Amino acid sequence: MHAAHSLAVITGAGISSESGVPTFRGPGGLWKNHRAQDLATPEAFARNPQLVHDWYCWRREICAKARPNPAHEAVARLEKDYKEFLLITQNVDGLHRRAGNHKLIEIHGNIFKSYCTACQHHLDQNASPAIALPLDCSQCGGRMRPDIVWFGEGYNAAQVEMAFTFLKSADLVIVIGTSGMVPMPVYLAQHAAEAGARILDINPDFSAVTKIADLHLIGPAGLIMPKLLA
Ligand code: OAD
Repeated sequence: MHAAHSLAVITGAGISSESGVPTFRGPGGLWKNHRAQDLATPEAFARNPQLVHDWYCWRREICAKARPNPAHEAVARLEKDYKEFLLITQNVDGLHRRAGNHKLIEIHGNIFKSYCTACQHHLDQNASPAIALPLDCSQCGGRMRPDIVWFGEGYNAAQVEMAFTFLKSADLVIVIGTSGMVPMPVYLAQHAAEAGARILDINPDFSAVTKIADLHLIGPAGLIMPKLLA
């Protein structure tokens, strides 16, 4: 770790599970009781905007009440320790920002932001406990939707480009708490590995990342990350 100059961290839902934010897969995962195609696609929103809106309000409330855990805090410290640093997160919960990370890309968006599907008016609630983001746009009466990349939608090309560019020269990539079932983290880590980076996977379970990792530290991130820094 100390030999690395350029560090990337890639995170998934597992890093926030010890903050009380449910993961998507595995025991207690959101996709156990909900179908992604009913809640996290543009078609679902067109069919039943109120249902999708209510589900995101419920999740937003969980995220607003959650606090960054020792793993988020460790990642924030890594940003201070490494001059060349980039955090790429799939999480929309805003906990990395609240822990103090600034050099980050939220590739799936942020649950505290929404925008109007008609006039593009943007709202940013910024993890405020006053979480009632509206369904109707205050400017034009159109539908406000969460600023989240849904299934069937493309990533922000500039963000993805930035991530791949950074990873090309990274020495070390720490991947924390992702199953890799949505494959972008695996592509990112693979790209870094091919360019010479070491890959460290932190996960209590095996994942699609484990296969390409140089080292798999098995356990909860909230326990492992502070030890790794110490
Ligand atoms: P998943 O829910 O698919 O996977 C969570 C991973 O975290 C699993 O591999 C767990 O073993 C691991 N995990 C659980 N607790 C952990 C802990 N305490 N410390 C470390 N790891 C732990 O979450 P993601 O891979 O992030 O997308 O899912 C990717 C995307 O799929 C999400 O962003 C979401 C979802 O559908 C959208 O909603 C668009």
